[in-house]
Amino acid sequence: MTAGADRIPGIVGARLLVPLVDGRWVPDANLDHAASAPCLTAVQDEVNRFLPWYSSVHRGSGFTSGVSTRVYERARASVRSFVGAGPDDCVLFTRNTTDSLNLLARALPPGTTVFRFSADHHAALLPWRDAEVRRLGMPAGPDDALRLLDAVLAAAPDGPRLVVITAVSNVTGEVWPVAALAEVAHRHGARVVLDAAQLVPHQPLDMTALGVDWVAFSGHKLYAPFGAGVLVGAPDWLEAAEPYLAGGGASALVAEEAGRETVTWAELPHRHEAGTPNVVGAHALAVACDTLAATGWEAITEHERELADRLRRGLGEIPGVRLLGMWGPDHPRVGVVAFTVVDRTGNPADQELLAAVLAAEHGIGIRHGAFCAHQVVRHLVGDTEGPSRALRASVGLGTTPEHVERLLTALAGLLSEGPRWTYKHAEAGWAPVPDPREEPDFLR
Ligand SMILES: Cc1ncc(COP(=O)(O)O)c(C=O)c1O
Repeated sequence: MTAGADRIPGIVGARLLVPLVDGRWVPDANLDHAASAPCLTAVQDEVNRFLPWYSSVHRGSGFTSGVSTRVYERARASVRSFVGAGPDDCVLFTRNTTDSLNLLARALPPGTTVFRFSADHHAALLPWRDAEVRRLGMPAGPDDALRLLDAVLAAAPDGPRLVVITAVSNVTGEVWPVAALAEVAHRHGARVVLDAAQLVPHQPLDMTALGVDWVAFSGHKLYAPFGAGVLVGAPDWLEAAEPYLAGGGASALVAEEAGRETVTWAELPHRHEAGTPNVVGAHALAVACDTLAATGWEAITEHERELADRLRRGLGEIPGVRLLGMWGPDHPRVGVVAFTVVDRTGNPADQELLAAVLAAEHGIGIRHGAFCAHQVVRHLVGDTEGPSRALRASVGLGTTPEHVERLLTALAGLLSEGPRWTYKHAEAGWAPVPDPREEPDFLR
């Protein structure tokens, strides 16, 4: 048990057993929290409590519709408080971080210049392709990031400016100097949007104190896997923009004149929430925010720091493993660790095969590939270790010290002795052959 473990909230599936190819069942070692975190039991319980009352939002006259509308609108207050938003900031429910950043990209005033680093996740990197984009490359360190931004903003054209900042790298877990970057941005009259997808599950966020204008994150990375995300922040650009999605809910009045529709669009927040809102997702996300806030960040960070330190140290001690990082081993980070592996002959190991063996023979779930952040993985892996691919292990509230130890032992054994089963590469990737593992009954 970690020092903070007795204070952290319960996780659905904490005692789940998964099958191995040799016929044994072992506790699931989910070391892939950075992709999607498991559901909090508080979220599951509150969703179950709400479901009998579930009905249409903003539409029906029935009592349950009123309850659902209140639940949906109340969820905004939980999110607002969770991120330290100001009273005038709007809280918009979206599908996820990607959706939130694309929504903001559609609301940029004409002539906006967007500034972004190349280390970002594709969700933060790609939505601005219709705007004038200034690419800031890969900073050599936090000070370099500040210098780069300062120089590029000083030379940028007049007009609206938006700086995109990723709070925590989904590849290296490194924490970016958000407040300092926001200060530079504001000094040059730029707005700031923060991709907080990998920050909010691990550390408190106070967007007002950080000086960021918008934040975006996903419920499924925050222990609320019910399909909701948020964009929170300044209303002005959003209320001046055409709705992100045209449709019901976003429109206050629709008529037809001279053979075409005339539409009066709704005010915020409905203006950018067209279609039937995901009230269950919004409720789940709000419960997760309230639960983490009530737990206290000290317990969460204590629990995760111990796991992350052991994970990094243990991986670093395995011959052939190289940890990936942009800014050195002592830079502050959360429990997301990407690494590459070379085999006993010094050649790059097949990262995908390693991940498949860890799952099939040890019940361990990690991630392999380029993590939707191709540029930073290419930058960190380089050409010397084969295709720009890596492995990533990440911890969270569902992680135990045994999960971490199991990964370290299994990976060390695998690298010295090789797999114990046979594997074949098919279209979908490496798979054990034969694969006797039974799927859960609801899939049969
Ligand atoms: C830093 C970061 N930003 C954005 C995203 C995109 O999140 P989503 O897939 O929930 O939209 C991710 C997902 O991995 C991420 O790690």
